[in-house]
Order: sequence, then C-alpha cells, then structure tokens
Amino acid sequence: MTAHIIVLAGDGVGPEVSREAVRVLQAVGTKFHHTFTFEDHLIGGCAIDATGSALPEATVEAAGKADAVLLGAVGGPKWDDPKAKVRPEDGLLAIRKALKLYANLRPVKVYPELAYASPLKPEILAGTDFIVVRELTGGLYFGQPKERRKRTDGGITAVDTLEYHDYEVERILKLAFELAGGKARRGVVASVDKANVLETSRLWREHATAMAKDYPAVTLQHVLVDTAAMRLVMSPSQFDVLVTENTFGDILTDEAAVLAGSMGLLPSASIGEVKNSKGFALGLYEPIHGSAPDIAGKGIANPVGTILSAAMLLRHSLRLEQEAQAVEKAVETALQQGARTGDLTKTNPLSTVQMTDKVMAHL
Ligand code: IPM
Ligand code: MG
Repeated sequence: MTAHIIVLAGDGVGPEVSREAVRVLQAVGTKFHHTFTFEDHLIGGCAIDATGSALPEATVEAAGKADAVLLGAVGGPKWDDPKAKVRPEDGLLAIRKALKLYANLRPVKVYPELAYASPLKPEILAGTDFIVVRELTGGLYFGQPKERRKRTDGGITAVDTLEYHDYEVERILKLAFELAGGKARRGVVASVDKANVLETSRLWREHATAMAKDYPAVTLQHVLVDTAAMRLVMSPSQFDVLVTENTFGDILTDEAAVLAGSMGLLPSASIGEVKNSKGFALGLYEPIHGSAPDIAGKGIANPVGTILSAAMLLRHSLRLEQEAQAVEKAVETALQQGARTGDLTKTNPLSTVQMTDKVMAHL
C-alpha cells in the first residue's frame, strides 16, 4: 500500500515524539512492503508565530487530502496569555471541526510491569483494559452562544452552551456499540451521562437505550458521570467501552490516563465520517500527553504514546491490522524487557531516541 501522512509536529515535545513515530512507521513500511510518504505542516503555537493563525489554511488543505494525520502536541507558556486573541489549542479544536472528527478513541491498557508507576494499587489495576469513546465536535466546546455579556448592574455574565443534536448522539453511540461488539472488546458499553440533571444527557440516554436493541450481543450500562469518575479509580477493570459527551470525556480521559502509570504511554485517535483515498476513515492521531514544556528540547520525552498513536493510524485509517499489532507488540516487549524513559524510572532512563530504538528492535 502507498499512503500519504501529514505530520503536525506542533510545540514543546511534539517534534521530538512525532519524529520517532515517523521512524517507526518507516520501519513498518520497509518490513511489510508499504510506501508511506510524509509531509510536515504547522499547527498550534509554532503556526501562530509563523502565520498568525493556530491552524493555517495550508494545513487544513493538506490534511483534508491526506490518508491520515499524525500530531505531536500543541501549546506552551509562550502562548499562554489568557488575554491572547488566538491560542495554540484553537488549532486543535479547529482541525477536529474542519476534518469532522467527531469521535475520539482513547484506549487505556495497564501493562502489569508498569503497575509500580501507577498511583493505584496493583490489585485494583489488574486486568484494566478499556477504551473511552469521547464525542469531540459538539457540546460545550462548540455550542453557541459562547460569549460574555455586560449586565445593566455593570457586572459580567459568561455563557457557554451545552447543545447536542440527535444525529451527533446517534453516530457516536453507534461507533461505541460497533466497537464493543467487535472481536477486540468484551461486549460492554458504559454510556456516561448526567441524566439526573441535564436535558442533553436525557436525550443521550434515550438514544443509547433504543440503540441497545439493535445490538443484542452488547450489554449497555448507564453510568452517571460522577459515579464513573469514582469507579475509574475504585474498579477500573470493570470497564470495556465507555462512551460519553465532549466535556465529560475530556475530564475522564485525563483521570483514566494516570492509571497506566504515565501519560506518556497513551495514544489517541480522532475519526469521523470523512474517507481517505483508501475508502477508510481519515483520522488524526496524537498522544494523550501535552507539549510538556518543562522537558521540551531535552530529548527525554516518552515516545510510546505517539508510537502507539501511529499503531492506531495503521489500524483505523489504513486498515493494516497486522502492522498495527506488530507495533503494539513491539512496544509491549520493549517495556517487558525493561525499556524505560524518565517518566517511568529514575535509574538510567533512556532518551526518546533510545526508547524508540528498543521498540524498533522488536518490530
Ligand atoms: C484534549 C485536550 C484538549 C481538549 C485541549 C488542549 C483543547 O485537553 O485533547 O483532551 O480539551 O479537548
Ligand atoms: Mg483533555
């Protein structure tokens, strides 16, 4: 297969980790006889510096024509002024919207040999392996109006709008049910909402209940978001597929990310209905961690989250399942054999490049 991949290295450690994931993809290409081509574009703070926009038109255009997009990270203290007119994060939100990436997949798998690095006890973590399906282009992030209003008493009122359309709820739930019914999962969907308070959640719950009838092999549970937050740390292994709206998903996935021992380990995929030249989902793949400005430029960031994101790219945008599993297996073996970056060990940590080399040795 030939495939064209846009690389949005972004800010902070983004360039360091995305470079390594590209190296892994090139090795996969050589081993499995594929030709992957790569093209760099700007997003985030570096794009603001170069063009004034966090998501230049050239990036959107190239990404829209690509087979997949690999992203490092955006943001950093340099662009953090709360009064700034444009922020690096705007680039991320805008590309999700522009490419219609309504589903964000965040798998959380705990490697037993890394349980020591997790804040939870090993016996609570045992068997934890779930995926969060987060709605990504609706809800509070995008609902209008979103504004500040001057009141007649001189004060200020700020407004964000929580709005969900039935078709947005339908398509994300459908994806979760399909996933849960697939071979890779255990057939349980936890639909996370706040139906005891929010109208959008009641709409969500109605649709989830109705859809469950079409998937007799999948068990549906409704879980209130506050309860879900608690269960994620009390008994994370009970979850298989969690599906939820944008803001809840944002919060729960950060909580879930620490279970594995380091944010640096976790990948994500954002997909939607847009198809690439192969007829598969055009997706954006990025590690869960941010730009980590404190360690940027030192060559010590953990590349695993981005490498596993590249594995998701192979799986979802190119349907190269065997290749995806080969990358995941290589990561697992490297970790089993003790390969550790500084986020996972204090004694002789590997550099970003060395860690990648350890992974590539098992490809
Ligand atoms: C994430 C991030 C983004 C989000 C920010 C950077 C806008 O936290 O991908 O989870 O809130 O979606
Ligand atoms: Mg987040």
